[in-house]
This record gives sequence, structure tokens and C-alpha cells, in this order.
Amino acid sequence: MKNQNSKRGALSRRGFLQGIGAGAGAAGVLTPAALAKLRPAAPESGSAAAREIELHVNGRARRVQVEPRVTLLDALRQRLRIRGPKRVCDRGECGACTVLFDGRPVYACMVLAVDAAGHRIETVESLGTPRRLSRLQREFVRHDAQQCGFCTPGFVTAATALLRRNPQPGEAEIREALSGNLCRCGTYPKLFAAVKAASKGGRQQRAASAGGRGGRR
Ligand code: FES
Ligand code: FES
Repeated sequence: MKNQNSKRGALSRRGFLQGIGAGAGAAGVLTPAALAKLRPAAPESGSAAAREIELHVNGRARRVQVEPRVTLLDALRQRLRIRGPKRVCDRGECGACTVLFDGRPVYACMVLAVDAAGHRIETVESLGTPRRLSRLQREFVRHDAQQCGFCTPGFVTAATALLRRNPQPGEAEIREALSGNLCRCGTYPKLFAAVKAASKGGRQQRAASAGGRGGRR
């Protein structure tokens, strides 16, 4: 199951990348190759030395010293101490490190920090706080959509991107959008249900059933 999901996710996201060039508006992950096209050419000399870059993370400009080999995930977790994105596989297979890159979900472990300079990065920390959970996060809690919770930040982040793009996704679209994220605890049915409940259709359904209950009183 794990391998199947992994392959399905990888294919799905690669499929998206092929769509980037054609200007497709679908969800997916940006690979290092795609990101390199966004990056101005860097001088060859001294390329291995650490340099200061500015990352725009969660609405704040953060200056950080990084060597060219440092991933966005390491820059976030180790240099900026933003620990919402999790390091699990560290090779672009599980989605636990998902962040939003100019609004699109990407694997932070597969993006170089230098490629993220000048782009808008959002981590799960900016999507809600323990005191002010987003609607989606509340639905995750209400549906008990996690066990160990290690995959949860990645799922919440990828699902947030989906709901911003399409507030009323169908079941197939939810599954497709989350196909690049793996949950080793197997909470998929609850994850999908939480996203559905946070969608416009889910909210309307809840409001209608609450109204119906009120009318019977
Ligand atoms: S830790 Fe980045 S995809 Fe798994
Ligand atoms: S809840 Fe444990 S990996 Fe998803």
C-alpha cells in the first residue's frame, strides 16, 4: 500500500510539473529543475561558500546564512527553528515536509534554500495556531484525523492549497491533491473526511443538518 501510494503521489506530482510549462493551474510540487528556471544565474566562483539570503517565511523577511547545498527544509528547521514541516524521508517521497511556495505545495526537502529566496513561503505555523485553528485544522481535530500526527502538518498544508484553489473539491480531487502525502498510520478515510467537511459543500451540509435538527425541536 505504501509503495503504491508513494508511486501514485510521485506520478501525480510529476504530472503537475509537466503542466507548469503549459501554464496549467493544477496543484503539485515544484522540483529543483523547475525551480532552477526561476533562479537568476549564479556566478560559478565561490558557489560552495555560505552566503546570506532573504527568505520570506510566514509573512516575515528572514535573513539566513546558507551554503548552496542546504535545503529549504534544513534552513527552516535548523536555521530558523520553524519546525512545523517535518523531516521524515528527506527524499521527496512522503510529503511530511510540505510547505507552500508562492501558494503551491512543495516538498521542502527537495528545494534548495537559495532557490526559495524571494519567493513567498508558508508553513503550517502560519495557517493557524493552537488558539486560533483554521477551519480545516478544526475539522482535522473534529474527525480525529491523526494518530501519531507526524504527517499532519504536510496534509494540512497540501489541503489548504487545494481549498484555496477550489473551495468545493470533489472526493476524487481531494484524493488527487493529497496523493503526494503519506500517512503511515493509515488515517486516510478520516483525513479525506476532514477536508471534505472543511470544504464549502461540507459546511453547507453541516449547516443544513443543523437547521434540520433545530426545526424538529
Ligand atoms: S521529508 Fe520531504 S518528502 Fe519526505
Ligand atoms: S498520523 Fe501517523 S503518519 Fe499519519
